[in-house]
Amino acid sequence: MDRIAITGGARLEGSIPISGAKNSAIKLMTASLLTDEPLRLTNMPRLADTRFLGKLLQRLGSELVETDWPEGAETMLRTREIVSAIAPYDLVRQMRASFNVLGPLIARTGQAKVSLPGGCAIGARPVDLHLKALEALGARIDLHEGYVYAQAPRGLTGARIEFPFVSVGATEHALLTAVLAKGETQLVNAACEPEIGDLALCLNKMGAKIFGIDSSTLVIQGVDRLRGAVHSVIPDRIETGTYALAAAMAGGQVRLTNTRAELIGALLDKMIEAGVQVERHDDGVTIRRDPAVRLKAVDVATDPYPGFATDLQAQFMALMTVADGESVIRETIFENRFMHVPELGRLGAAISVSGGEARVRGVANLQGAPVMATDLRASVSLVIAGLAAQGETIVNRVYHLDRGFERLEAKLGACGAQIRRISGDAEPED
Ligand code: UD1
Repeated sequence: MDRIAITGGARLEGSIPISGAKNSAIKLMTASLLTDEPLRLTNMPRLADTRFLGKLLQRLGSELVETDWPEGAETMLRTREIVSAIAPYDLVRQMRASFNVLGPLIARTGQAKVSLPGGCAIGARPVDLHLKALEALGARIDLHEGYVYAQAPRGLTGARIEFPFVSVGATEHALLTAVLAKGETQLVNAACEPEIGDLALCLNKMGAKIFGIDSSTLVIQGVDRLRGAVHSVIPDRIETGTYALAAAMAGGQVRLTNTRAELIGALLDKMIEAGVQVERHDDGVTIRRDPAVRLKAVDVATDPYPGFATDLQAQFMALMTVADGESVIRETIFENRFMHVPELGRLGAAISVSGGEARVRGVANLQGAPVMATDLRASVSLVIAGLAAQGETIVNRVYHLDRGFERLEAKLGACGAQIRRISGDAEPED
């Protein structure tokens, strides 16, 4: 398995182009199951997760063509017919979002068999809200030996679905399923994450009728069929926020391009409060920090969008490990999302966890050490910490990073970070 080695202490200077959002791309790819015409997705990130999903879609009957143009990557998907409505465990296990093929398969073929998902090790992560939404739309659901068996022989019918709490996955899944249901569907207390807005915009280009985009109530007028479309994937706000935090951690000046500052408004507010300089542009944001001046500790609590993203919590904690004072970081979305804490501790951070709350007492310096990543966002928090740690940090289990960050070493390296990948073939991991 590959590892990443970082020698801390280098300032970052330069610009980083932000990729298309992983969490949007994988839902947009799934939308291609809803039509027999081609769906062309531009500004596509090339990631392990998009590759996994591509494999699953091909198994279900999609043709997939990837083209890397100088101006960006593109994926064309076309599902003339569903050749199999079965999503097996070995493919769904690798990526939780692939569970969301269930609704489109039912909408297109009237039945499906999809494995219950695995995914990051960040809590129980049930799918009860997904299944309730599909049942409300008229699907009959049976659970048997780890699989969901779904049937809707007479088709799906619109319904009013009120989510008891905000769920990104369940909102997207209900949206993907309802566009081809007969009549009107209302999704109340829907998630407002920008990736859901991006999916809704793409579905509307395909002929869907979705109203209330970016609000917490989505109204969908079902249509008989969808057509092909061309859609550019929204910029990745988590990648944007991660590199903003990397620049703040290492010090220097980095311009993040091909993105939108408002996608990370809650993070930028906290960074400014901590003493980081932020300049917004039409195509992104510039982050400036004098490494000689210590940042101030600030508190954050994760929340659904537009609140502070849970996917940026670990990276923000890395920044707070060297801030002046104590920062309280509260995780409200997942019950077990502090696995990075002991690893940051190996670098010299002083953090104590009680329930969903971490107290970070800033230290003057971190020291490099070998560390291990346990999930996607946690692993990149260790890279960020390594940028400021004295000496060398080796991050093991880099396959987590490869799920969600495109060319991470190249992007940071181009700004002067001392970072390199050690191929797993060259040296054993353990
Ligand atoms: C969540 C995050 C999303 C992040 C992603 C990957 C929120 C609101 N969601 O999305 O920003 O990108 O993880 O880290 O910030 N739940 C149920 N039953 C369900 C579905 C969810 O109880 O059927 C619970 C989850 O366990 C969790 C909460 O609802 O506590 C929110 O989950 P949800 O938004 O669905 O998770 P993801 O879609 O994975």
